[in-house]
Amino acid sequence: MSLLSVRGLRTGYAGIPVVFKVDLEVEEGEVVALLGANGAGKTTTLRAISGMIRAMSGEISFAGESIANRSADRIARRGLVHVPEGRGIFPSLGVEETMRLAAAMAGVSRAAAGERIDEVYTTFPKLAERRSQAAGTLSGGEQQMLTLARGIIARPRLLLIDEMSQGLAPTIVADLFQLVATFPRRGTSVLLVEQFVGQALSVASRAYVLEKGEITFAGRAADLAADESFVRGSYLGDVTVEVEEVGRRRRWQDSAAAGAEKAREGIAATLPPVMRRALEELSERDGVPVSELIRQALQENGATPSEAATPTPSGGTRGGT
Ligand SMILES: Nc1ncnc2c1ncn2[C@@H]1O[C@H](COP(=O)(O)OP(=O)(O)O)[C@@H](O)[C@H]1O
Ligand SMILES: [Mg+2]
Repeated sequence: MSLLSVRGLRTGYAGIPVVFKVDLEVEEGEVVALLGANGAGKTTTLRAISGMIRAMSGEISFAGESIANRSADRIARRGLVHVPEGRGIFPSLGVEETMRLAAAMAGVSRAAAGERIDEVYTTFPKLAERRSQAAGTLSGGEQQMLTLARGIIARPRLLLIDEMSQGLAPTIVADLFQLVATFPRRGTSVLLVEQFVGQALSVASRAYVLEKGEITFAGRAADLAADESFVRGSYLGDVTVEVEEVGRRRRWQDSAAAGAEKAREGIAATLPPVMRRALEELSERDGVPVSELIRQALQENGATPSEAATPTPSGGTRGGT
C-alpha cells in the first residue's frame, strides 16, 4: 500500500477546475518529483493534498486513511506536512527561536523540542552555526534551509515541498537537493514540486509531469532525465526566465551575496551544460557575453563589494557574519 495515493483528483478555484484526473503515488522511503511548467497546476495539486483547498472529485489516501477534504490541521497532525512556495520566515526571529516555534506549533512538547532541534541541526549543520542569528539576516539558501527545517521538525512521514529552488543560484539548489535526498533515511518521504528539472530528477526515484492540469508522464526519474528534449526544453524556458527576470525574481540571490568576480566564474563553471548552452544562445542573440549576463544579474540583485563573501570549497557561498 502506498504512503500517498491520489486517484482522479480534480480541483481548482471558485468552482473552476485547473487540475483534472490526476493520479499519483508516493511509496514509503521515496523522493518523487512533480514537474511542469509555470501554471501547470503543481501548487494547486499540493494544496488539495494537504487540505488547503477542496478536491472537487477524486480520492486521496495517506497512510491508509482517506484524507480528501479533511482539514489541513488534521492532515498535518497525521504526518503530512506542506512546505509552501516562498520562505515565509519571520525576519526578526532567531534561527533556533523559529524552530522552537515550529516545534510548538506542530505539537512537539517542550521537553522533546530540544532533541528534535539537535536532530535538525545534524541535517543542516549550517543552521547550527547560525542558531542565534536573526532569520532575516541569513542568505537565501540558508533561509530555504530554515524553511525545510521547520517542515521536518515534527518528523513528518511525508513532506510536500513546493519550488524550493526559487530565488537561489544553481549551486545552492544542488546542495539543498542533496539534503532533501537524505530525508527518507530519517523516515520522511518527499513529494518535490519543481521547475528546475535536472536537479530534481537527480534526487528523485520517480517523476510525474503535469501539463495544463493533466499528468502526461509517470515513470522512473532516470528515464525522464535521459529524455534530452524534455530536459533541454524545460531548462531553456527556465533559463530565459531567470536571465530576463532575474532582477524581479531575485533568483540568484545567493550568488549576488557572493558578489566577487570569482563567484561569477564559479557560477558559470557549475552551470549544467544545457543551461550553459541556453545562456550562450541568449548571449549570441543579444550580443552580450555570458559573463556579462551573469554580472548584470548579480548587479540587479544589489550585490556590492562590501557584501562580498568567500565562496566555500563546495562552490556554495557564505553570507557575511
Ligand atoms: N488562488 C488562486 N485563485 C485562482 N486561480 C489560481 C489560484 N492559484 C492558482 N490559480 C490558477 O491555477 C492554475 C494553476 O496554477 P498553479 O497550481 O499555481 O501552477 P504551478 O504551481 O504549476 O505554477 C493557473 O492557471 C493559475 O492561474
Ligand atoms: Mg507553483
